[in-house]
Amino acid sequence: MKPGTMWQMMGGTNVRSVLKALDLMEPVHRAAWLGAAIRHGVLARLAEAPATLDELAESLAPEPSGRAGLRAWLRHGILLKELRLRDGRYHLSGALGRLLADPDNDGLAGYMEALMGLHARGVGGVLDRLKEGETYSVADLDGPLIARTSELLGPVLREEIDRAVSTSGATALLELGCGSGHYLRYACERNPELTAVGVELDFGVADAAASAMEWHELADRARIVAGDLRTVTLDRTFDVVTLFNLLYYFPVEQRRDVIAAAAGHVAPGGQLVLGASCGGGTLANNMLDIWFSSMAECGPLPKPDAVVAALEAAGLSADKPRRALPGESYFVFVGRRS
Ligand SMILES: C[S@@+](CC[C@H](N)C(=O)[O-])C[C@H]1O[C@@H](n2cnc3c(N)ncnc32)[C@H](O)[C@@H]1O
Repeated sequence: MKPGTMWQMMGGTNVRSVLKALDLMEPVHRAAWLGAAIRHGVLARLAEAPATLDELAESLAPEPSGRAGLRAWLRHGILLKELRLRDGRYHLSGALGRLLADPDNDGLAGYMEALMGLHARGVGGVLDRLKEGETYSVADLDGPLIARTSELLGPVLREEIDRAVSTSGATALLELGCGSGHYLRYACERNPELTAVGVELDFGVADAAASAMEWHELADRARIVAGDLRTVTLDRTFDVVTLFNLLYYFPVEQRRDVIAAAAGHVAPGGQLVLGASCGGGTLANNMLDIWFSSMAECGPLPKPDAVVAALEAAGLSADKPRRALPGESYFVFVGRRS
């Protein structure tokens, strides 16, 4: 290639900007490749044992017509240094791939899958909808993937449970929108005298949470109720009521009622602990704001002042909101009933 042609290819005097644009290719391809490798079990499979093209093709490309595409996809893994081909077998070679293959890092694996799904569709796709006068809907979200990535907040919210639930003494806990029930389980394991109720709207998720309680031999202490937290009636009040990662699923004008409904379950001397991403923050947080602001049934991430005002309006005395994740707009709110 002539130097002049190369100069033109590289954008001439814009060479720095062109290089910056080209630099984006590798991280985007890596995220796409790793996301697919997680989704289709390639990382888990290769973490167990290296495999040949034929062995991988049995599940990944069972038709002969798919073989060439699979080979090229695997070669992409080699170019990205996530794979190595030795003696006809593909081996995992990247530290990140190995980390993501470990089931203990499922939250991180969920995030990697979400980068090219939830994140890319939100940031890259929202204008396609808005321009047509359309919105997203909760059905556009991949619920199980959201649940997996929510697990990244696990340490933060377990710390909040540690604050609210002591390690001994009879305590009644209610979790509204309990999902798979992992926080209920954590609280039960923390305090052997604790009894708990989880309320979950989605029947399938509620069923899975109830099975998880049985599996962990906690069913006698943790009951799962399939129902809507806005209308559910329970036969008692609770020392601690939690509402984690859920407020923005409701339109702004309903959030006071949601908080009032949650507060109605708090016993005298008890507390409502609410964890929520709020407006602002980093790229990840703002990506959520794009989604929730653009979903017909939901609304923008809340403002901390509005949450505090709703707690007070519900008859609770609100602590100063706590930024639970340094540098991020994720807040924990506590409202106490005297
Ligand atoms: C983002 S997940 C959060 C789950 C859990 N709180 C956590 O932080 O891991 C929200 C959960 O709330 C449930 N949910 C949504 N609206 C609800 C409602 N009105 N009543 C009860 N549960 C609801 C969803 O089905 C989902 O399982």
